[in-house]
Amino acid sequence: MITRTLDLDRPSDARVHDYLLGGGSNFAADRALARRILTAAPSARLDALANRDCLRRMIRTCLDHGVDQFLDLGSGIPTAGSAHEIAPDSPVVYVDNEHLAATQGELLLRGSGTAAMVHADVRDPDAVLGAERTRELLDLDRPVAVLLFGVAHLFGEHHHPAEVIRGYTEALAPGSFLALSHLTDEFTPRRARDLLAVLPDCPPSVTRDRATVLSFLGGLEPLEPGAVPASDWRPDDASEDLRVDEPLSFALLARTPPRPNSPGS
Ligand SMILES: C[S@@+](CC[C@H](N)C(=O)[O-])C[C@H]1O[C@@H](n2cnc3c(N)ncnc32)[C@H](O)[C@@H]1O
Repeated sequence: MITRTLDLDRPSDARVHDYLLGGGSNFAADRALARRILTAAPSARLDALANRDCLRRMIRTCLDHGVDQFLDLGSGIPTAGSAHEIAPDSPVVYVDNEHLAATQGELLLRGSGTAAMVHADVRDPDAVLGAERTRELLDLDRPVAVLLFGVAHLFGEHHHPAEVIRGYTEALAPGSFLALSHLTDEFTPRRARDLLAVLPDCPPSVTRDRATVLSFLGGLEPLEPGAVPASDWRPDDASEDLRVDEPLSFALLARTPPRPNSPGS
């Protein structure tokens, strides 16, 4: 579903997330929900920041492997720390179904020759991959890094998350990456339960364990260290302050088998 109106009385995922990250694109209803989230799960802000920071390290890892174009699914508002800032020379397509994220993203990226916002539902890979701006910016004959951070918990079983993921990984060139983070109750079951109790039920959020999410990957093997709390994924000096004691999510980076003799194969 794509929202085409701005409803300020109802919190939106994109704007609540923006608030948790310290952004200014949020309204009273978003901040009220964010406060309920932080009461239920005080580590939620640090978890969101640690996820963002983990994404930075994963994007750099993709670049190190020679993959230099990015498709950020459920990107939210592409503000500080977004992919086009981490990889300024790379083509980046952001996708979000939320009205404000999409319109604000379009404004922020206006005039950029390398980054664009697509207003679409990421559960429809054909629409996303076939969108005009995706086709203009990304060379789909070359590997792409697909970023699916903090979104798949909004895909219920009836949305067939494994099929959605395969819709990207199987359509993209060999050697493409999938960077994913997912809400889980594996590490702190009570906090995760308290968090779910305050999250809106439209759409409902679901926690999943790592084995379940790994089963969605169609045999793709995550790179070391596997599926771990975001702050444990190849931490560097810059991530020192973002260690999460009560992680609410895990992250992984997987790669489709590269063509022989390509960088990093
Ligand atoms: C929790 S935020 C995560 C933002 C960003 N990926 C990050 O990790 O920092 C989830 C985002 O996914 C978007 N979203 C949720 N379901 C979506 C869908 N079916 N299609 C496109 N975007 C979606 C929401 O609007 C929101 O901006």
